Amino acid sequence: MNTPRLKIAIQKSGRLLEDSLALLKECGIGVDNGKDQLKASARNFPLDIFYLRNSDIPQYIEDGVAHIGIIGENTLVESGKDLHIARKLGFSKCRLSVAVPKGTHYFGPDYLIGKRIATSYPHTLRMFLEKHNIEAEIHLITGSVEIAPNIGLADAVCDLVSSGSTLFQNNLEEKDVLLHSEACLVTNKRLPKEIQEILDQLLFRMQSVLEARNNRYLLMNAPNDKIAEIIAILPGMKSPTVMPLATEGWSSIHTVISESRFWEIISQLKTAGAQGILIIPIEKMIL
Ligand code: PRP
Repeated sequence: MNTPRLKIAIQKSGRLLEDSLALLKECGIGVDNGKDQLKASARNFPLDIFYLRNSDIPQYIEDGVAHIGIIGENTLVESGKDLHIARKLGFSKCRLSVAVPKGTHYFGPDYLIGKRIATSYPHTLRMFLEKHNIEAEIHLITGSVEIAPNIGLADAVCDLVSSGSTLFQNNLEEKDVLLHSEACLVTNKRLPKEIQEILDQLLFRMQSVLEARNNRYLLMNAPNDKIAEIIAILPGMKSPTVMPLATEGWSSIHTVISESRFWEIISQLKTAGAQGILIIPIEKMIL
């Protein structure tokens, strides 16, 4: 009998590819590079990788050709497929927004009544328009949506915005956000038990990698009479570790903090008497 293998679909090119491969690598999964291939197999984990067109991935997962995939939530919503989001992955953050030429008097979604809107996301846009009871013309464009208003093809666009530079370069202004998106691991809702077991192992590894990415190991020295005040500032996982230094009356304090928090507490720690503060990346974090 063949050993079961989990089949994952990832983008063959585009904004998610590099980060998807990097995540698998950090999970300890070795893949012989297969960018120009349709399929690659992991050497040390029961995983086969299919490189597919982004917009085709939800269908392949629904059909069971792939068990799971890495796509943006924008792609999932646009597909309308009933797939399960097993884990948000924290990269490729963007939003799908309505934008209009700079200087347009946009007074809310009703501005779009009777207007021509260019987009590669007709389904998501239609849901937004229906929610607001708006009739408008949807122009489906598969690339370079942002040029549509400049060439007189549309009055507005509904497109992905990440840094905002594409809108800026095309003299457009973002007005309404339809959805916020990031890369996520999606799965078919009915997976065979042996496949689910492999997926659980993969999710465990992803959890360790993603937690580690979001946290930092923090070390500092402080006089013993300042320890209580410093600990009160620290939003650590658990109680911090406190160890005596060779210098009498001083200790070293260690803890783990969220990457998003350390800038806001660093000056408080210094004011409270912490010295020699070190912030170190964590490779894996098992909770
Ligand atoms: C999206 C979108 C914009 C750009 C926005 O394209 O269509 O062109 O990203 O990003 P920014 O706000 O950082 O400028 P994407 O790179 O996904 O490729 P696409 O043209 O194939 O949609």
